[in-house]
This record gives sequence, structure tokens and C-alpha cells, in this order.
Amino acid sequence: MSSLVVIGTQWGDEGKGKIVDVLTEKVDYVIRFQGGNNAGHTLVINQKKYILHLIPSGIFHSHTVCIIGNGVVVDPEVLIEEIENLKKEGIEVTPEKLIISEKAHTIMPYHKKLDLAREAKLNRSRIGTTGRGIGPCYEDKIGRRGFRLSELTSPETFKEKLKVVLEEKNYLLKYLGSEPLVWEEIYEKYIEYGNYLKPYLRDVSLIIWEAKKKGKRLLFEGAQGTFLDIDHGTYPYVTSSNTLAGNACCGTGIGPCEIDLVMGIVKAYTTRVGEGPFPTELKDEMGEYLREKGGEYGSTTGRPRRCGWLDLVLVKTAIRLNSIKALALTKLDVLSGLEKLKICIGYQWEGKELYTIPSTLGDFYKIKPIYKELSGWKEDLSQISSFEKLPSEAKLYIELIEEYLETPIYLISTGPERKNCLILRNLF
Ligand code: GDP
Ligand code: IMO
Ligand code: MG
Repeated sequence: MSSLVVIGTQWGDEGKGKIVDVLTEKVDYVIRFQGGNNAGHTLVINQKKYILHLIPSGIFHSHTVCIIGNGVVVDPEVLIEEIENLKKEGIEVTPEKLIISEKAHTIMPYHKKLDLAREAKLNRSRIGTTGRGIGPCYEDKIGRRGFRLSELTSPETFKEKLKVVLEEKNYLLKYLGSEPLVWEEIYEKYIEYGNYLKPYLRDVSLIIWEAKKKGKRLLFEGAQGTFLDIDHGTYPYVTSSNTLAGNACCGTGIGPCEIDLVMGIVKAYTTRVGEGPFPTELKDEMGEYLREKGGEYGSTTGRPRRCGWLDLVLVKTAIRLNSIKALALTKLDVLSGLEKLKICIGYQWEGKELYTIPSTLGDFYKIKPIYKELSGWKEDLSQISSFEKLPSEAKLYIELIEEYLETPIYLISTGPERKNCLILRNLF
């Protein structure tokens, strides 16, 4: 097995970054393929916490090359800051170690302003975006008026196109009650960014192809989660990219038959940031408990995450949408100390039982979860070194998940640290 895609099976923040970091020990290339700095992937290594927004979570392993694919939208200011911060920590970030697609699109200052201004205008029907300009940047990419990173390295053509594009953006900004922007200021800054990033810009698809031919191991790191997918998520409460495994191909230029396995990351309960339906949400003390114990505050915006019980109907749908054949279960330790646990195994909908998610938003709001109740356990799982030593109640919780999902669990994460990980099966 040489190409693996790692995908969030819920609404993001499943612990993808931590699992990617653990798996990177045996991987040569770690590649982001969609999203932008709306992502926040947290790694804890020897008690030190790092949050990555754009750089793939393999960067802390010296043998691994990290790639930002063409499907990612890059805010150059954020990327440069991330590179510089890592360098200050003594982490090697050179053009040999980090490769960025010249085709990746650039988040511009007006994308951020438009994102914030539209959310403010929508007011109560807002999406709850991260405000990082992700949606407006993807809109421009699809509308063929975006800027690829490579365009920042051609000052004259960049200048002419920027003047034209900005005219329309300023019209929109004015309509939304936001201050217009001056092209000279954007131009100066972005040409500087272009100069900084130039050595990192390469033809990613070709590099991946050659690596694959040499038998190198590739890991494609998903951002967000299955139900934030623009097509298959809880639209319009989604992000603006396809977050599904299939997009690892379009977002990097690898062909579909080159992908060997898709691993789904499942948090032992469910969380969501921003607006939108959430059938198993707990708006009570239990939700509060999960938020505090699990540290469920956004890695990007610091917003409190909404918390609820594990929803297996949702995860089973993610398995179907992504061809997931392997799972990693995270944050099981957060459930220690609870007397009773609930898992959603179906939905009640208009007097019927449903075992897949509804396809319309209206029905999503109508469904009621059907729960199976299980006994909890008291032990601190972060201190446990093997699956066999887990409390029997935790084993039952895990078995129910595996049986319902008909998919094997390879890894169980029992704490934020790299070392808090129980390996049940070997991937490589
Ligand atoms: P990602 O976006 O999917 O990479 O997830 P985030 O980093 O946004 O959120 C996951 C949070 O849970 C981070 O603070 C991680 O450090 C933490 N985390 C990851 N795995 C575990 C785990 O097994 N147990 C606990 N307690 N925390 C974890
Ligand atoms: P990671 O990779 C959780 C959510 C936002 C909002 C919606 C749209 O860390 O799992 P956007 O700024 O993308 O237009 O916001 O998507 N969202 C995330 N939620 N984890 C993420 O990334 C997210 N990225 C975007 O909260 O509801
Ligand atoms: Mg996150």
C-alpha cells in the first residue's frame, strides 16, 4: 500500500492532524489537497502544541516532503508566517522539504473582506464561516478570475489583471457597506509574497507521479470533514470545497486508480463549529462537559465547538461517500468518567426509521436520533499502553462502532500527544 487518503468523517476537527503526524513516521510525502487556512490541525509533540493551518501535518518528521496541492487556496501572508514560525522553532522548512503547487489559488484581501461583509449582512442566516476568505476565493477560481500563485511572479500581467478584478470587487464591497481597496497596496504586498514563495513553487502533479513511480509512500491529508463537503455536506452550512477523498485526485493531479486506501478519522463523539443541523447535539450540561473535557474550542477561530453524542449513521454515510476501508478512532479518553454513554444508531423521521442521512436540509432538521445506551468507564485511557488493557466497557464501545460501520479500526487515539496512540493493526 503506497497511497493513503486520510479524511474526517464528521464536521471537521476529528483529530486528523494528530493521526497524520503519527502515520508520517512511515510516509515519504504528506500532501494537502483542498481547503485553506480555515483548517486548524493540532499536533502535540513532547508537550509542545503546534497548530498548522496550511502546511501539511508531516512537517515535523525530517525524512518527509510536504506538498500543498493545486486544490488548496493559499493566503500567502498566513503561509509565510507559518513557515517563519516553524523555522524559529528549529523546524526545517526549505524548498526541498515544502513544495507548493504553482496552480494553487491565492486568497486576496478582498476575499477576506467579502467573506466577513457577507456574513454580517446575512446576520441570523449566516453560515458561521471562519472569515478567512475561503468561499470568495473558490468562487473566483471557478469564475476564472482568480490568481494562481504563479501569477504573483509576473509583475506586469499581475498588475493589469488586478486592476480589472479589483474594480468589480470594490463595487461589491461598497454595496456590502465595506471600505474599497487600493490596487497599489495589494500589488506591492503580493509581489513581495510572490518573490518569497517563488523557490517553493513547482509542478506538484509531476512530482507526485515520479514519487509514486519510485515506490514512495504518499499520504493525502484531508481538511475539514465529510459533512462540510460542498456537494455532499449539510449545504449551505458547509465549506466551499469538496472535502471527500475523491478530491485528493483533482486537488493534486494524481489519477484515481493510484489511490490504494482511504482512512476515515472518527471522533468518539461529535462536534461542529458554525451553524447548521446537528441531530445528536447536546445543548445541556453533558454538551458543556464534553466541550471542557475535550478542549473543544476552534483551533483556527477559538470559537466554542458544539458537542454531541457519536452519530454512527453520519459516519456510515461518510464510509460510503469516501470508500473508507480503515478507521482511526480519536479522543476516546474524553469519555472516561461518564456513567452512561449514548451512540446514535438510526433516526426517527416522519414515523419511519432511517439508516442514512436525509438529502435535504429541511429533513435534516426534522430527524430525531435513535440511541443505544452503553455503560461508561472510569479509567484514564491516556495511561493505557495496549488495546487488551482497555476497560471492558471501552472495548464494548469500540466493538459496537466497528460492527455497525463494518470497517476495522486501525488506531485508537487516547490523548493529544503523539505517543497517546494504540495500534490495533498495521497499515504499512
Ligand atoms: P483536526 O482539525 O481534525 O486536525 O483536529 P483539531 O486539531 O482541530 O482538533 C482536535 C483537538 O483534539 C486538538 O486540540 C488535538 O490536540 C486534540 N486531540 C487529538 N486527538 C486526541 C485524543 O485522542 N484525545 C484528546 N484528549 N485530545 C486529542
Ligand atoms: P479542520 O481541517 C471545523 C466550518 C466553519 C463553517 C463552515 C464554512 O480543522 O477540520 P469556511 O470558512 O470554510 O467558509 O466556513 O465550515 N469549517 C470547519 N469546521 N473544522 C475545520 O477544519 C473547518 N473549516 C471550516 O466553521 O461552519
Ligand atoms: Mg481543526
